[in-house]
Amino acid sequence: MSSAPRVLNQWPGVIAEFRPFLAGLSENAANVTLQEGNTPLIALPRVGEAIGASVYAKFEGLNPTGSFKDRGMCVAVAQALAQGSQAVVCASTGNTAASAAAYAARAGVRCGVILPEGQVALGKLSQALIHGATVIPVRANFDVALLLARQLADQAGLVLVNSVNPLRIQGQKTVAFEVVSALGRAPDIHCLPVGNAGNITAAWLGYREMRARSGGGSWALPQMWGAQAAGAAPIVTGHVVDAPETIASAIRIGNPASWAGAVSARDESGGTIEAVTDDEILSAYRYLAAEEGVFCEPASAAGVALLMKKAHLGEVPADCTVVVTLTGHGLKDPDRAIAQVELPSPVDPSLDAVAARLGL
Ligand code: F0G
Repeated sequence: MSSAPRVLNQWPGVIAEFRPFLAGLSENAANVTLQEGNTPLIALPRVGEAIGASVYAKFEGLNPTGSFKDRGMCVAVAQALAQGSQAVVCASTGNTAASAAAYAARAGVRCGVILPEGQVALGKLSQALIHGATVIPVRANFDVALLLARQLADQAGLVLVNSVNPLRIQGQKTVAFEVVSALGRAPDIHCLPVGNAGNITAAWLGYREMRARSGGGSWALPQMWGAQAAGAAPIVTGHVVDAPETIASAIRIGNPASWAGAVSARDESGGTIEAVTDDEILSAYRYLAAEEGVFCEPASAAGVALLMKKAHLGEVPADCTVVVTLTGHGLKDPDRAIAQVELPSPVDPSLDAVAARLGL
């Protein structure tokens, strides 16, 4: 029998690439991977020109399940497996569920996901289901679902794979390693959407670790700019939002689990966490798709919305370098895209008719 051919020059995934830096991952943990990470840093020249800065998108929507969650999920699931756990559980606005379901399938462990009923984009729901997770819609919002997931994990001895699991943060911090490798330094500003606040916590940790590793380095840490949706902006207002509401369903969260981490990231970095309206989010979402050719999901556009808003207020320093995390792919939520445009009516199958539609 011939041995399997070796696949050359492939990115090996987050665990294989970054294992020495993943604190808390057992040495014997298997490399659970779908080759997540190594996402492109895509220049956004039109956004940059509009605001007088160099702007790049770290397009996390190009991870295997279409969101940044994969970076941390592979680590959390690998550790669950190493500990002999047979099942993982999470609450989710959709992307965590899709990622948990995929990595659990990969690792051969069971997966339960608790979702706010009727509030999860179809692409994400379809992923969780097709990967074989047990999907439990609850008549409640994400914050209540997370409470239930925490209790279930405690009582039934399951591993909770929300970002309150420190292994998730360890994996997600690697985004900052990649940004620094790509730019040769940190950007001046790193802008991203904030929901449950794990991701801003993780990126800030990654930048600090990277700088410590480079011996203090010749580059400065970035300011962390977080964007919350105006109807779901507990960190901005300073109090829990009981009934969060926004079209950006991924960040429809009223009581973020990593609230303290986000506040530290903001304050230690000299950054900011501000609200953007649904209109601002949708306008950034359309702009990215139509002007830059980059299709992200609505929540992901919140960071760009904040950047544009602050540029209009003259609050983006001239000629600075900005990285915006685009957290999820636009195909996660095609309904939202369709709702933004006018659906074309069909024409007769004649050359005249199709040419006429093109205005020829
Ligand atoms: N963008 C997208 C596309 C998300 O799915 C999320 C979170 C965020 C931003 C916010 O990241 O929670 O680390 O501040 N989604 C979680 C989920 C809550 O269940 O999929 P965060």
